[in-house]
Amino acid sequence: MLKLFFTSFFLSFPLIIVDCSLVLNSVSVILRHGDRNPLYIYPNDPYDETYWKQHGGVGTMTEQGKNRIKIAAKFYRQHYEMLLQESDGTNYQVITSTVNRAIETANIFMKEINKNATFQRNDNMLFMYAKCDKATKLRDDRLNELAPELLPNNTFMDYLRNKTGDEFTDEDTVKKIRLLFDLADTLKIERDQLNMNVSDWITDKETVKTMSETERKIFAKMSNTPEIQRLRVGLLLKDIRDQMEKNPSQRFYLYSTHDFNQAVLLQALDMYDRLDKINQMPPTYVSSVVFEVFHNETNEQEKWIRFIYRQFLDINGTIMNLDEKILPEKCQDELEFHDGTVLNTGKFCSWQQFTNELLKDLIPDNWDKECQNSSFANKPMWITLMIFITILMSNFSIF
Ligand SMILES: *[C@@H]1O[C@H](CO)[C@@H](O)[C@H](O)[C@H]1NC(C)=O
Ligand SMILES: *[C@@H]1O[C@H](CO)[C@@H](O)[C@H](O)[C@H]1NC(C)=O
Ligand SMILES: *[C@@H]1O[C@H](CO)[C@@H](O)[C@H](O)[C@H]1NC(C)=O
Ligand SMILES: *[C@@H]1O[C@H](CO)[C@@H](O)[C@H](O)[C@H]1NC(C)=O
Ligand SMILES: *[C@@H]1O[C@H](CO)[C@@H](O)[C@H](O)[C@H]1NC(C)=O
Ligand SMILES: *[C@@H]1O[C@H](CO)[C@@H](O)[C@H](O)[C@H]1NC(C)=O
Repeated sequence: MLKLFFTSFFLSFPLIIVDCSLVLNSVSVILRHGDRNPLYIYPNDPYDETYWKQHGGVGTMTEQGKNRIKIAAKFYRQHYEMLLQESDGTNYQVITSTVNRAIETANIFMKEINKNATFQRNDNMLFMYAKCDKATKLRDDRLNELAPELLPNNTFMDYLRNKTGDEFTDEDTVKKIRLLFDLADTLKIERDQLNMNVSDWITDKETVKTMSETERKIFAKMSNTPEIQRLRVGLLLKDIRDQMEKNPSQRFYLYSTHDFNQAVLLQALDMYDRLDKINQMPPTYVSSVVFEVFHNETNEQEKWIRFIYRQFLDINGTIMNLDEKILPEKCQDELEFHDGTVLNTGKFCSWQQFTNELLKDLIPDNWDKECQNSSFANKPMWITLMIFITILMSNFSIF
C-alpha cells in the first residue's frame, strides 16, 4: 500500500487528493524549562539553604533538566527538519521570561537545533509574577472563594504544621494556599525527582495522595477564568498570531516559559481539562504546547492550525516523547496533510476559527491599562525623571 503510494508519487501520477492536502507552514513552541531544584525550603527541611547552595542553588536547573532539553531539541530538529531547512539563514527571534532557567533552557535548545538566535526577554508575556494588579486580585479573590474546596481538612493541616514547621496561619488564606502549593512541589522534587533520602512522613501513601491532589486542584482552578487568561496569556497569544501572519520567513518560534503560563494557555484554549482527565497532568518539565500551522498546498493563503501537548517523560529509564493531539470542540475538520514524507489525516481548526472564535476575548486591547497597575508602580520612573530634570536645571544655572 505504502509502496504503491510512493511509486505513484514518484511517477507523479495525479494522485489521491494531493492537490488539496496541507503542508506545514510554521510552528510555535511554548516550552517549559528543564528540571529544577526546589523553589521553597520549609522550616524543618533537613536539606536547608546551605545544602542547596552546594547543589546548584534554589530553583536552578539540574543536569537531568539540561539533558532532557537536549533530547527534546534533537526530537524537534528531526521532526521539523524540512521546515528548519526552509528557514535557513534566518536569525531566529526567541522570547523568554527573565528567569535564568528559562533563558538557559532556550539557549541549550537553540544550540542543539543548531540555529543562531536573538533573545528577547518579556515577563508580561511569559512570567506569572509580571506585575498585573488586576490579574493578581482576580486570582486572590478566586483562591479565597475556592479555599474550602482546595485546602485539605484541619487534621491534615495540623499534621503538616507539625511535620514541616510551617505555620499555615489562617489569617491569610491566599498565602496559605501558595505555601501548600510550594511545599507539595518541594516534597515531590526531593522524593521523586532527585530520589533523596526523605523522612517517612513524606513517603507516606496518604500524604503523597493528599499533597498531589491538592497541588493538582490548585493548578487547575487558580487562574481558570477568561479574565485572568486574557491578562496572563493574551500577550503571548497575540504574539503567536501576529508572528505567523506577519513574519513568514521565520518558520519556527520558541517561547521559553513556566508551568503556570502553559497551564493557563491550555485552559484558555479549552484543552487543559481533557489532559488532566487522561492523567497527563500538565505541565511536566520540557513539555510544550505546540501550534502547528499548515497551509493549503495549492492556496497558501488558506491556513489551518492544530495543537499538540508534547512531553518528554522518564519511561523505563529513558526519556521518551509523548504527543497528545488536542483540538477544541469547535474544530473538527478532518483533512489530509503531508507528515514528513507521508500523507496522513488529522483534525484541524481553520485559521479563521482560531483567530475569530478561539482568540476572540483573549487578546487585550491595552494590557497595561487592563492590568490597572497602581500608579505607585510608576513612581520610581517619575522620581528618576525629577532627579534628571533637577540635574539638568542645576547644570543650566551653573552655566
Ligand atoms: C485547497 O485549495 C483548493 C483550491 O482553492 C481547494 O480546491 C481545496 O478544497 C483546498 N483544500 C483544502 C483542504 O481546503
Ligand atoms: C551563525 O552565525 C554565524 C555568523 O554569522 C555563522 O558563521 C554561522 O554559520 C551561523 N550558524 C548557524 C547554525 O546558522
Ligand atoms: C482528613 O484528610 C486526611 C488526608 O486526606 C484523611 O486521611 C482523613 O481521613 C481526613 N479526616 C477527616 C476527619 O475528614
Ligand atoms: C509533633 O507531634 C508529635 C507527636 O504528637 C509531638 O511529640 C511533637 O512535639 C510535635 N512537634 C511539633 C514541632 O509540634
Ligand atoms: C536516611 O536518613 C535517615 C535519617 O537521617 C538515616 O538514619 C538513614 O541512614 C538514611 N538512609 C540512607 C540510605 O542514607
Ligand atoms: C516499560 O517496561 C515495561 C516492562 O518491561 C513494559 O511492559 C512497558 O511496555 C514499557 N513501556 C514502554 C512505554 O516502553
